[in-house]
Amino acid sequence: MTYAITQTCCSDATCVAVCPVNCIHPTPQERAFGSTEMLHIDPATCIDCGACADACPVDAIFPVDSLPVAQQEYATINAAYYADQTLEPAPDGPNFHAWDEPVFPRVLPSDFAPLKVAVVGTGPAGMYAVQDLLLHTSAEVTLIDRLPVTGGLVRFGVAPDHPATRKVGDTFARFHTHPRVRMHLGLDVGADVTAQELAAHHDAVIYAVGASADRTLAVPGEELPGSISARDFVAWYNGHPDAAPDAIDLSSERVVVVGNGNVALDVARILLADPDSLARTDIADHALQALRAGKVREVVLLGRRGPEDAAYTKSELLALKHVPGLELVVDDHDPRTAPAIDETDPKADPKGRAALLRGVTRDRIDWAQAPAPGRRIVLRFHSAPVEMVGEEAVQGVRVVEASGERTIRTDMVLRAIGYRGVPVAGLPFDETTGTVPHEGGRVAGRPGTYVVGWIKRGPSGGIGANRTCAAETVTTLLADAVAGALPAPGRAQKAFHRLARRRARGSSAPSR
Ligand SMILES: Cc1cc2nc3c(=O)[nH]c(=O)nc-3n(C[C@H](O)[C@H](O)[C@H](O)COP(=O)(O)OP(=O)(O)OC[C@H]3O[C@@H](n4cnc5c(N)ncnc54)[C@H](O)[C@@H]3O)c2cc1C
Ligand SMILES: NC(=O)c1ccc[n+]([C@@H]2O[C@H](COP(=O)([O-])OP(=O)(O)OC[C@H]3O[C@@H](n4cnc5c(N)ncnc54)[C@H](OP(=O)(O)O)[C@@H]3O)[C@@H](O)[C@H]2O)c1
Ligand code: SF4
Ligand code: SF4
Repeated sequence: MTYAITQTCCSDATCVAVCPVNCIHPTPQERAFGSTEMLHIDPATCIDCGACADACPVDAIFPVDSLPVAQQEYATINAAYYADQTLEPAPDGPNFHAWDEPVFPRVLPSDFAPLKVAVVGTGPAGMYAVQDLLLHTSAEVTLIDRLPVTGGLVRFGVAPDHPATRKVGDTFARFHTHPRVRMHLGLDVGADVTAQELAAHHDAVIYAVGASADRTLAVPGEELPGSISARDFVAWYNGHPDAAPDAIDLSSERVVVVGNGNVALDVARILLADPDSLARTDIADHALQALRAGKVREVVLLGRRGPEDAAYTKSELLALKHVPGLELVVDDHDPRTAPAIDETDPKADPKGRAALLRGVTRDRIDWAQAPAPGRRIVLRFHSAPVEMVGEEAVQGVRVVEASGERTIRTDMVLRAIGYRGVPVAGLPFDETTGTVPHEGGRVAGRPGTYVVGWIKRGPSGGIGANRTCAAETVTTLLADAVAGALPAPGRAQKAFHRLARRRARGSSAPSR
């Protein structure tokens, strides 16, 4: 018997360090790390000890003989990763612990005074940075979030029907009450305190503020009522404090989603999920009521490229194929789609993304008709939106495709084309990428100021990707500290806590 890694893996590599026989790959030291969508267990060498399953923060690891039906293909997926490749040799030969955590040397001398570090943002990037500082240095941390609750996108992004993934928040929460952490919630840096005030009270400040705006399509009609960003829709069903409970009207039978990344799959799944199963999750009550009363039964996902270039991860698409009562259909309108899926196209990759759609129903859909009976998700590739059609509200989406243009009738369009970072007052900003320019996490031209997570790398990558990202930023910060390159703060960290308590929004905002 062996263990297998499954759908919810966020590639944070926690399991790698605990495996006694180095059978989980790719490790952070291997070239493939960061380019595979998940890690895999080698069934040939796994000794069935269960240590990885105990360590995984998102419950992604199971013995293969206890995998639920919908996850059984992960036994094959894990094994297939090893079937056709030679692993890189471990760095120190046959030493069982040669594969380890990402190697970022911690260089602070033991007599170094505890650093006073402010971390802005309690999402994954901020919390991996805090975790790293607390576990590897004696730093005293001021932890800040503009919202009255912690978690960032773990709480307000990750879909409610992914409870195992949301559980990673419990791992982070252990550090909120650490004796060397003082947390201030409901405190917006830029509005309630300035970047200068923060810098004046700390040796270093790490910004982990994520990406809180949307990419835009820049097509006519994008601002019409009924054209909604997926970010707003996600915030609404997750009960984000900025989202009005009545913000979403679900009276359209058909919803068109622009984009086919994982966010597009999340919103499509939630729109069509059985409300009784959602009732067992922590979806916002107002969203559950609206979904129960709503009329949506068909969601069309528009991909501007082909199935081989879809942006979703394989595991999320596989999961969609197993949702009870939900049909997955590929619109067969483009002559390139079927050959890519069936691999009759000589350029098709038999292990690629398009091959995942083998066996999925293909249909030539008549968009002038009302949606077919039942609940279904239609994947429509080679289809780029050029206009939201309508006078006072959206009535359709005009798309260009190989055969010309066509309008898909709908009263609701969700734009799931990616998030975008917003400028942080007092920090430089690259308008093209929506990120803060940096070198190894150090903000260009701002000694003592650092970035991590989506505001550093842009809005892509799962939760685990922020762990290596945080390790790089913390390493740069510590090297600067040792080099004497951190500007001396003029004021005490304690004085900041008094200031923060006065400025935090709402008397109920917990500061400790
Ligand atoms: C809809 C959605 C679903 C996702 N689902 C998954 C999933 O299932 N699995 C997975 O692995 N990955 C998932 N991801 C990706 C994952 O959420 C991101 O990789 C991760 O959250 C990025 O972390 P971050 O800390 O950079 O940003 P965030 O998580 O956005 O955290 C930023 C924090 O900074 C705070 N902040 C912002 N501005 C200020 C300010 N001025 N002052 C104070 N605080 C501020 C915010 O309130 C927030 O708490 C999902 C992403 C999205 C968008
Ligand atoms: N379950 C999970 O693990 C989970 C869930 C949600 C999010 N996440 C992660 O969070 C990150 C962000 O996800 P995301 O879905 O927001 O972004 P994404 O993966 O970058 O997908 C964006 C989608 O929008 C399309 N797009 C962009 N601009 C467009 C335009 N002008 N016109 C038409 N289509 C356009 C892209 O098409 P092109 O590919 O052609 O550019 C792509 O299909 C990803 O790393 C994702 O994996 C993970
Ligand atoms: S989430 Fe982390 S610990 Fe869990 S399987 Fe994936 S890499 Fe391993
Ligand atoms: S069960 Fe044990 S041996 Fe197998 S992958 Fe997990 S930690 Fe390694």
